[in-house]
Amino acid sequence: MSLFITFEGPEGSGKSTQARLLYQRLQLRGYPVILTREPGGTRIGEMIRRILVDLQNTEMAPTTEILLFSAARAQLVNELIRPYLETGGIVLCDRYADSTYAYQGYGLKRDLEELRAMTRIATGGLLPDLTIYLDLEAEEGLERKILSKQAHESRKAQEEGLGGSRVNEGGSIGSSFIPPPEWNRLDARDLAYHQRVATGFRELMLQDPDRWRKMDAHLPVAQLAQAIEAEIEPFLSRVTPLEPL
Ligand SMILES: Nc1ncnc2c1ncn2[C@@H]1O[C@H](COP(=O)(O)OP(=O)(O)OP(=O)(O)O)[C@@H](O)[C@H]1O
Ligand SMILES: [Mg+2]
Repeated sequence: MSLFITFEGPEGSGKSTQARLLYQRLQLRGYPVILTREPGGTRIGEMIRRILVDLQNTEMAPTTEILLFSAARAQLVNELIRPYLETGGIVLCDRYADSTYAYQGYGLKRDLEELRAMTRIATGGLLPDLTIYLDLEAEEGLERKILSKQAHESRKAQEEGLGGSRVNEGGSIGSSFIPPPEWNRLDARDLAYHQRVATGFRELMLQDPDRWRKMDAHLPVAQLAQAIEAEIEPFLSRVTPLEPL
């Protein structure tokens, strides 16, 4: 048996933070686990991601966007997710197909049935066992991202002012490495779009309540991590922990 868990929610709701914390906890508890993200997670997928988030790609047609997300997903499922699940491990994925339904379906108002058909082609029908939904209003998530971008920039300016360049954009020099918060083509869409996305997620949850776990994304990080761990606890019996070395 294996376990496939996805994290969904609006921008800035804490998906990456919580996915990483759960990954660390499961590793510590001796479970075979990998953490990946969408779009991306593979060499080819990360190349596709750069095209999708590039602020210069303003002329991208919605269909192109959908096909690129699907192409990255197909690569991820084939190269990483399916093979790892076949070994009996746990896969944590930061966003998955539900993001397509919420963003391109509800956000860009594309036909949901068409998106489902395309997703079946991309994933071969692979569905998560469990989807953690970080529930937050669209405005609050965007605000968090703006705040963290500002904090990042002022910290960077401060560090540069001190004469040391200990912050870098993607490497890991020094203890004060701050990952650059992403502010990309998809974030830059208007608030009404982000509100449709959040509404879309809530409707998707109603359609398949057994799979989704709605979490209050306002909780402090550590408390939220504990609550998520408690939600997945009953599913861990499907996976055999690794033998201690
Ligand atoms: N529970 C929380 N309470 C308050 N702030 C949080 C919480 N979790 C994360 N944050 C902060 O909110 C910002 C966004 O968090 P994070 O990057 O994990 O969200 P995300 O859902 O992955 O965003 P994105 O949609 O951009 O991928 C970060 O600055 C993070 O430190
Ligand atoms: Mg993230």
